[in-house]
Amino acid sequence: MKAVHLSTLCLMHINPNQPVILLTSSRSNGNTFDLSRIVLPEDRAPLIDFSIHNIGCFSYSYANAGDDFLPLVEQLMPSPVWVIATPLHWYTMSAQAKTFFDRLSDLLSFRQSLGHQLRGKALAVISTGTTPSLPSAFNQPFELSCEYLGMNFLGSYYAQSGSRYFCRKIFSSVPAGKNRQKSRDRLCLRRPDSSASPRSDPTRGRNMGSRMT
Ligand SMILES: Cc1cc2nc3c(=O)[nH]c(=O)nc-3n(C[C@H](O)[C@H](O)[C@H](O)COP(=O)(O)O)c2cc1C
Repeated sequence: MKAVHLSTLCLMHINPNQPVILLTSSRSNGNTFDLSRIVLPEDRAPLIDFSIHNIGCFSYSYANAGDDFLPLVEQLMPSPVWVIATPLHWYTMSAQAKTFFDRLSDLLSFRQSLGHQLRGKALAVISTGTTPSLPSAFNQPFELSCEYLGMNFLGSYYAQSGSRYFCRKIFSSVPAGKNRQKSRDRLCLRRPDSSASPRSDPTRGRNMGSRMT
């Protein structure tokens, strides 16, 4: 897909009381998108697709400083809760999610005023993969990065793609000791038993298996 420069796109309005989802999948309408919309429906959180942005790798010489990264961060900034939606790629986050974190380093150097605004924000992760659960070390880079950046890590919400429990396995990785209800409240989530029962499971009957990689 041809990269579209952010300045040519209509900027989405981010409500300062809502979480915002950053989809960092190689498929704009894949499993990770589906799970994101199950966990946080459209009316609860706007979704920004990383793949339509032109964002380069971190560069010590700030060679990519003029790309879409800084406008993207400025767009995310009003939201108090950033939700990174990532497929499992080789037991960890996608390359797109990793690039996003690498580029946050720009905010610690030449855009410190933006970097300071990260303090106190919350970060959550929504992830899909083919394995029944997340690798044990999956959360660590997010936890440590949040600690470094002064952000609060709310946890990871994982579901195995193709599973009929796709929508019921959320909250499986909220870190021990954290209050799950608090995390849910912060994410403006519905209670899992209100609409996520097997009968109303929106993934039921859909051929998720054929979309698995
Ligand atoms: C490059 C690549 C690496 C993957 N590595 C893993 C993995 O380590 N563990 C896993 O459970 N699934 C792995 N998968 C499967 C995807 O995580 C899974 O199909 C996911 O639901 C795809 O989400 P998407 O539709 O948003 O791309 C991998 C897929 C790809 C393409």
